[in-house]
Amino acid sequence: MGLRDVTSELDVRVGACVEYETWKADPEYREILSREFDLLAPENELKWGFLSSEREAYDFGRADELIGFAERNGMSVTGHALVWHMEKPDWVRNGEYEAGELETLLKTHIDTVAGRYSDRVDAWDVVNEAVDDDGELRDSIWLDALGEAYVEKAFEWAAERTDAALFYNDYWLVHDEAKRERAYDLLSGLVERDVPVDGVGLQMHCLGTHPDPEDVRETVERFQGLGLDVRVTEMDVAYRRGEEPDEMEERQAQYYGDVFEVCLRAGVEAITIWGVRDDTSWLRTYGEFPERFTHDPLLFDETGRKKRAYDEVERVLRDARSGKL
Ligand code: G3I
Repeated sequence: MGLRDVTSELDVRVGACVEYETWKADPEYREILSREFDLLAPENELKWGFLSSEREAYDFGRADELIGFAERNGMSVTGHALVWHMEKPDWVRNGEYEAGELETLLKTHIDTVAGRYSDRVDAWDVVNEAVDDDGELRDSIWLDALGEAYVEKAFEWAAERTDAALFYNDYWLVHDEAKRERAYDLLSGLVERDVPVDGVGLQMHCLGTHPDPEDVRETVERFQGLGLDVRVTEMDVAYRRGEEPDEMEERQAQYYGDVFEVCLRAGVEAITIWGVRDDTSWLRTYGEFPERFTHDPLLFDETGRKKRAYDEVERVLRDARSGKL
């Protein structure tokens, strides 16, 4: 029995991002993934820089493997991410392109990837992290070349190639009011212009800052007020090194439970944890994050043991199933 045996009776999916190398090598990792989760998001394999090393040449091998696994195990697939300021292929990042050429490159990329998986990916993070930490549109080659219009063009191009739900995805939309309001303005403009955007992904990387669950609820409801679906897309819960609370695993469990409860009450349609097991968390390898934060942010520890956070998530899901929420 796993979490998905409970979510199968609810209008919510609980997913995990998948780290390819561990997935490929470790049958126990695959077993946890298929037993527990009904949604899969390739952590990196659908990013442009991981798909393409030469101009307009793609290697879909790894993405195809992960999506095939999801299909064989009845899991929904979230595609992450079509347009981002990071993980562009070197031939895009280092090329000298006119604005019109960049538009064509981006459209070709979206046509190619969204088109390939048109009926196999159920939801796309179409545009990822377009709002900067100062609450302005993030400077990127896409903004420089196309202006703010790159956002709606990306959604329109994606909608021409797939029936997947199309999401705007970002971090700190709960943590930071300026960032949330700029994203809200961006999305309300898209909605007003009938741009085909279906929802907002709240990443919910809770690293040292753990927004009050009430703020989570308010943020969910704010974007739902635009007629958009809301998902939690990349949740993990860690603590600043040197500021670890007493009984950290218990505090982490409580926070996971509180966030899951407000999300289920608010009608959030999917909650994705950013990893399966603690040993595969990005917090253990990415930049200076390992030095800044604890690196046990997920529901399973590195041995595959269910942590207290798992217990609390399961409790909340069971409460929802029995009508207690
Ligand atoms: O696979 C290569 C390996 O062959 C090479 O030896 C190694 C050292 O260069 O790099 C490996 O690739 C790394 C990859 O993770 C797999 O570990 C990339 O350098 C590294 O940049 C990449 O980091 C990912 C990061 O996004 C940037 O793409 C993390 O795994 C991933 O968890 C993180 O996820 C992001 C979301 O996409 C967007 N939201 C924030 C979130 C956390 O940063």
